[in-house]
Amino acid sequence: MVLVVLLVVGGVYINSSSQDSDVTSDLSTTTEEVRQVTIDQVEDHNSEDDCWTIVEDKVYDITSYVPRHPGGDEILRACGEDGTSLFLERRDENGRAVGSGTAHSSSAQSQLEQFFVGNLSSN
Ligand code: HEM
Repeated sequence: MVLVVLLVVGGVYINSSSQDSDVTSDLSTTTEEVRQVTIDQVEDHNSEDDCWTIVEDKVYDITSYVPRHPGGDEILRACGEDGTSLFLERRDENGRAVGSGTAHSSSAQSQLEQFFVGNLSSN
C-alpha cells in the first residue's frame, strides 16, 4: 500500500516538474532578441561570395542561394543593397523590369525566410 502511494505521488511530481521545464523553455524562446543590422553592415556584404540584402526592412544572407538561383546572376544586383523592389516586383530602382518584371512566386518568398539575419536598424 505504501509503495502504491509513493508511486502515485512520485508520478504526479515528475509530471508537474516536466511541465514546469516546458514553460521555462517557451519563455526563453519568446524573449530571444532579434539581431539589429545597420545599413553599413549590409553594404559590407556586396559580392557574389558574400551577399546580404534587404527586403522590407529585414536583412537576409542569401550567399548560399546565389549559385542556385533560377534567375541566374540577376540576383547579384541585390547584394549589399536594398533588394525590396528587385525581389517583390523584379524591377530595378528606376522601375525597369528585371526578367518578367513581376513578383517572385510564393515559393520563392517562403524560401527567403531561411536566410533571415535580423531587422534593419533605423539609425
Ligand atoms: C533580389 C534580387 C533578385 C532578382 C533581381 C531576381 C530575379 C529573378 C529573375 C529575373 C528570375 C527569372 C524569372 C523571371 O524572369 O521572372 C528569377 C527567378 C526565380 N528567383 Fe529570383 N531574383 C532575386 C532574388 C531571389 C531570391 C532571394 C530568391 C529566393 C530566396 C529567388 C528565387 C527565385 C525563384 C524560386 C525563381 C523561379 C521563378 C519564381 O519562383 O518566381 N530570387 N529571379
